[in-house]
Amino acid sequence: MTTIAPEGLLAIDASAQDLLFREARTANTFSAEPVSDEQLRAIYDLVKWAPTAMNAQPLRLVAVRTPEARERLVPLMSEGNRAKTASAPLTLIVAADEDFHEHLPVTFPHREGAREAMHANPGRPAMARFNASIQLGYLILGIRAAGLAAGPMAGFDAAAVEKEFLDGNQRAIAVVNAGKPGSDAWFPRNPRLDFEQAVKLV
Ligand SMILES: Cc1cc2nc3c(=O)[nH]c(=O)nc-3n(C[C@H](O)[C@H](O)[C@H](O)COP(=O)(O)O)c2cc1C
Repeated sequence: MTTIAPEGLLAIDASAQDLLFREARTANTFSAEPVSDEQLRAIYDLVKWAPTAMNAQPLRLVAVRTPEARERLVPLMSEGNRAKTASAPLTLIVAADEDFHEHLPVTFPHREGAREAMHANPGRPAMARFNASIQLGYLILGIRAAGLAAGPMAGFDAAAVEKEFLDGNQRAIAVVNAGKPGSDAWFPRNPRLDFEQAVKLV
């Protein structure tokens, strides 16, 4: 059952709540309508403001738009993810940059020595993955905020995607299709855990 908060408890109006959460669905087919570079830029320029630990911002994206690039990606997706990835106007390879610490002198300037400390920190790859995963969530909502449907996927050959598309110390964590939904785009909506199942009040 869809639970709707009583009027006034949430700061965004009901249509924004629906656009971002209740009515937004994971798309499995896409129309041919293109997603422009300007739309992608607007999505990134919104999503970049959402928080990460130490303002680390490890998210890196490779935007797959051309038929040639798509042809290189589709065979690296797991079987069930190939047709939808072939049909999407925009596909984003979502990566975690393990060398995010190189930007800390600019992005976290008040913590002197942060880059050097993080360089030596064995927890850096895990921190990159954790924070890029948080940013993946923000990205999905940013795509929805642009009036598009997102189709996030974890089913792909990460090592092969890294070899084919990514630089240096970037780890592939997800691939996200984006665009207007096509015909028969949704799997059946599955129930969500309710408040009592997921939240313990202490
Ligand atoms: C991180 C992540 C990975 C996912 N991986 C896949 C995938 O590999 N293949 C797929 O068909 N769906 C994948 N999904 C889609 C989820 O199953 C779907 O978003 C979820 O069931 C909610 O569907 P709904 O938005 O239509 O309610 C993934 C979703 C997320 C967030």
